This record gives sequence, structure tokens and C-alpha cells, in this order.
Amino acid sequence: MDKLLVNGGCPLDGEVQLSGSKNATLPILIASLLCAEPLQVRNVPHLRDITTALKLLGHLGARVEFNEDLTVEVDSGDLHTLRAPYELVKTMRASILVLGPLLTRFGEAEVSLPGGCAIGSRPVDLHIRGLREMGAQVSIENGYIKASVGRGGLNGARILFDTVTVTGTENLLMAAVLARGITVLENAAREPEVVDLARCLIAMGGAIEGAGTDVITVTGVDALHGACHTVISDRIEAGTYLLAAAATRGRIRLTGYDPQHGDVVLEKLREAGAILSIDPRGVTLDMRKTQPQAVNLTTAPFPGFPTDMQAQFVLFNAVANGSSTVTETVFENRFMHVHELQRMGADIHLRGNTALIQGVTGLSGAQVMATDLRASACLVLAGLVAEGETMIDRIYHIDRGYDRIEEKLSQCGASIRRIPGWPATSVIPSREGASVSPLQS
Ligand code: EPU
Repeated sequence: MDKLLVNGGCPLDGEVQLSGSKNATLPILIASLLCAEPLQVRNVPHLRDITTALKLLGHLGARVEFNEDLTVEVDSGDLHTLRAPYELVKTMRASILVLGPLLTRFGEAEVSLPGGCAIGSRPVDLHIRGLREMGAQVSIENGYIKASVGRGGLNGARILFDTVTVTGTENLLMAAVLARGITVLENAAREPEVVDLARCLIAMGGAIEGAGTDVITVTGVDALHGACHTVISDRIEAGTYLLAAAATRGRIRLTGYDPQHGDVVLEKLREAGAILSIDPRGVTLDMRKTQPQAVNLTTAPFPGFPTDMQAQFVLFNAVANGSSTVTETVFENRFMHVHELQRMGADIHLRGNTALIQGVTGLSGAQVMATDLRASACLVLAGLVAEGETMIDRIYHIDRGYDRIEEKLSQCGASIRRIPGWPATSVIPSREGASVSPLQS
């Protein structure tokens, strides 16, 4: 397993080009399952989760082409299985997103239950309940969700989510585009990634209104067609680099940034003392002459403070002036990074779902272990701030969601190096096997 070796204590100064959003690209690639014509997706980030998604699509029988210019073309005209196996779902929970598209287009689907993960139990009951409300028969057998629907296909329905769920909204949105009649998703997720998926579905011929609000109305159509879609930039990658510069008291310019997607993070950074300038091509953060001030925050669904930025702000507060509280309300167990930060000298106490943080003047390098994607990013930031060497183990988590992180940070003057472990395997799926007939396309 690869490790990252960071030699810290030096302010960042440089420019980073943002990659496409991981959490937008995943459902958009999977949306290709909804039609028999190729879907071309541009600005696809080079990440392990994307490789897993392409491997899953290839396993189902889709033809996948990955081009040098970050464009992926997926042709799901000729699938040969409707089963997403445990081996792929366990490496990436977002694989659950194939359930809605396969069921609505082919009338059946079988997807392994994802199970718990490092940040909480993360059930998928709301995905299943919504599909049942649209007329699907769903059972859980031998760890698999088995779903089917009669020849008429899914019916439109009014679906009220008990909790705001991002992939739950995306799964039912994709199911609804080919359902009969009108589906209304209430208390829907408003995340920019959901809006990007809706834009792609509309380009494919879907009839969707209200994406970006908490009520999305979908009028089912008989079939979708191929399209070309450019994915939005990654707002969490952006936030992570802004925090890296802020925590090291440096300066960074991000190109390809959409300020609308990161409003609340920018607000918190301003409150923390950062000088931000935004123009149509990007954003610049300057923290070279400011004493960082700790900020209180509570995570919430969009437009609230993103849980995917919580770990990075815990690190920032740990080395800022003053005391602060960070409360996690989206996931039940998303503070694993705190124990590693404590080993580097941070003064943080956990009380229930709140971290009580007292800023310290510095951290010291240590050997630490990454536990999930955003916790790993927090440890990289901690390594950049700390005096001496920090060796981060289990960085496969980082490779799931940060495109060439060590290269981008090195461009800003960071001393960060990958120490190779076992050879990594690269997977671009191939097409094989027999075909499966669509229900309605
Ligand atoms: N929930 C349920 N039942 C469900 C679905 C969700 O109780 O059927 C609960 C979850 O347990 C959680 C809350 O609802 O407490 C919100 O979970 P959500 O479903 O929104 O999370 P997700 O869709 O599984 C996506 C992102 C996560 C991000 C969350 C929250 C993707 C692929 N993943 O997960 O991204 O943290 O939304 O914004 O879009 C990451 O990128 O590091 C990451 C974890």
C-alpha cells in the first residue's frame, strides 16, 4: 500500500487547476445505463472511485472508452447482466446508484447491499422505500437487494424523503425519468451534484423541473437518447486546497472554481480571516498576513456547511487562534481523524457529535493512518502544517477522491512525496457477453 510522506511547516503558494467533481461524475456516468445510445462525459477526474464505477459499468456489459482529454464515453446499448456484485459495491457505496436506472429501463436489478462504512451505518432504506412507492417489488436476499417491476414499468409517485439524502435523490431521479407519469420528490437533496445530474438527464431527453430546490418534479418519458455533458468542478477539492493554504498561512489560486457552489465555505474562510478575491476564472485566497481565527460550524445538507469539509476545518481550527466547536449532524461517526490529530499535538475533545477544539501554536509530524476520504485529506493538511515529517498510511482513501493531490500540492511548494507500496492495478473495463433487453427503450 502506498504512503504519503509530507515535510511540513512551509506556507503554500501557487496555483491549482480543479478537477471535475467526483460526486457529480459518479451518478452521471451511471445515468448512461438509462439509454441505448452513447453518453459522452467531459471533465472526468482521474480517481479510483471513477475507475470502480467504470469497472462496474463494464461488468454490466457497457462499452467504456476513456480518452486522454478526460472524456469518457459509455455505451449501455447492449448489457449482459443486471447484477452489481458485492466485490464492486463494497469498494464504492455509490454503486447503489445503478439500482434505479437498471430497474426503470429493464424491469429488474440486483445490487449488493453496501453495508456500514468508516463514517457511519449509512443505510439505503430511503432508496428502497421510494422504489417500492413507484411500484417495484423489492426483497433483501443473501445480502442483495433484488428489485423487479411488472411489464408496465415503474409508476410516477409522490415521494417524501424522511432525511435529505444525496444518492437517494439521485437514484429516484434516475428511476423517475423513465417511469410512467409524474414523480414528485419532496425534501429532495439540493446539492450542486444533484443539479448537475439533472442537467445531464435533461440533455438526454428527461423532463425534470425544480432541481436545486427541495421539490423535484419529473415527468416520465418513453426513452432517453445519447448526449454530451461536462461535469462541474469539484467544490470539495476546492475547499480542501483553500483550507490547505489557509492552515499553512499561505496563498493559493484555484482555477475552474464556481463560487456559487462553495458559498458557505468561503463565508467561513472570511470569518477565519482569509482574504478572498473571486473573478470569473477562479478564486484566490491569501492568508499570509493574517492570524487565522477559529470558527464554529455545524454540518448540514446543502446549502448548509458540507460534511465533506468538516475534517479539514477541524484541522484548521486546531492550529488557529481561540477555541471552537465543530458539530457533525449528517453522519454519526465522522471524527476518526480527531484521534490522529491528537497524536500530532492537537487539543481536541469529543463530546457526542461535537468536537471541542482549542487552537495550539503548532503540530508535530507523526506516523498517522487515514480512515476515510475526507479524514485522509485532513491528515495531509495536518502534515503540511506540522513541523517535521508526517507519514500517512492507507492513502488509497485519498486516491478515491483527490486527483493527483501530491502533484497539485507540490506545484504550490509543498514537500509531499508518494512512497510506493504494492503495485497498483489499473482497470479500464472491457465489454463481453450476451445482451439484456430494455423494458422501455
Ligand atoms: N440516510 C438514511 N437512509 C438512506 C439514505 C441516507 O438514513 O436511505 C442517511 C445517512 O445515513 C446519512 C444521511 O442520510 O446520515 C445523509 O446521507 P446521504 O444519503 O446524503 O449520503 P450519500 O448519498 O451516501 C453523498 C456523498 C458523500 C457525502 C454525502 C453528504 C456521493 C457519492 N457521496 O453520500 O460524499 O458526504 O452525500 O453530503 O455523492 C465523500 O465524497 O467523501 C462522501 C462521503
